[in-house]
Amino acid sequence: MEATDSRLGSIVRLLSDNATIVISGTRIAEELGTSRSEVWRAVQQLRELGVQIKGHPATGYQLNAMPDLLLPDILGPLVQGQTIGRRIHHYFSIGSTNTEAMHAGASGEPEGAVFIAEEQTAGRGRGNHSWESQPSLGIYCSVLLRPPLSPADALPVTLMAGLSVFEAVQQVTGLRPDLRWPNDLVISGKKFCGILTEMNSEATRVRYVVIGIGINVNHSAFAGELAPIATSLRMAGGREWSRVELTAALLKSLDNAYRKLIADPAESRASIIHNFEQQSSYARGRDVRIEEEPGFHGITEGLDERGFLRVRTASGVRTVLSGMVRAVDEK
Ligand code: BTN
Repeated sequence: MEATDSRLGSIVRLLSDNATIVISGTRIAEELGTSRSEVWRAVQQLRELGVQIKGHPATGYQLNAMPDLLLPDILGPLVQGQTIGRRIHHYFSIGSTNTEAMHAGASGEPEGAVFIAEEQTAGRGRGNHSWESQPSLGIYCSVLLRPPLSPADALPVTLMAGLSVFEAVQQVTGLRPDLRWPNDLVISGKKFCGILTEMNSEATRVRYVVIGIGINVNHSAFAGELAPIATSLRMAGGREWSRVELTAALLKSLDNAYRKLIADPAESRASIIHNFEQQSSYARGRDVRIEEEPGFHGITEGLDERGFLRVRTASGVRTVLSGMVRAVDEK
């Protein structure tokens, strides 16, 4: 699927850098090395995407408001100098950013590349579920990493991503989410963020990992089977939030955590697991059902040294390697 025409981002950047004046079509065309009619076409395309631009070719153009689009020209300056976000690939519409990032990983894309879409037409969740990805309401983003870990030690990378979302959401919205092992974020028992980590590895070495993060940000409601189990930051906080601000905070937090992981993998893994246990109400003393084949039921007893969940059942302590965790008091 095609990445966003970089001229769209350049126009938004140019207009926002000169927000107080009207910029002529000729000047934009010169700066972009294109023609005035191409600029007109690009402006029309941006308007169709909801960007409010005043003016026309004869008078020049001016931005009404900074758009909440996750364009590299808008997001890039906010994550400058970081490994994560050093390359941002943006799509107005794509099947799945995870699929795209996995392909890029196979083709040698450097670590830290981020794949972001305004809309996914085939967003994927864990366990063959789909991920609803309506245009510009949520954050649909995948990060490509090449951590120097063995596949058996990779779970903390996923836990780290959950903690980064947790931190970014708290910082930007002031809301207090909960972490449901291994990587759901919930508020009042309803899920607003899911993480799908996919990996390509040899027996003892990870080649690359893609962390796919879906956050429901500005959805005002969920229909059908999602209604009782899903929420958004808008529904939880009673107002809309800037996706740009949230994404920048998330990539910053993830970058920090990843730097620590690279610097001292053993120490950092232990601290990720410890933090997760501290922040998650599901990690200890919670009555849960594990929905795998066959499912079982028990009380959580913290995470083991690799990050797997321990659950005390009638027949002893079991370690959950994957599967969905539901609190018994949840739907
Ligand atoms: C889950 O909770 O089941 C995981 C959902 C992960 C969704 C994100 S959205 C961005 C990335 N691309 C995908 O196709 N899935 C992940």
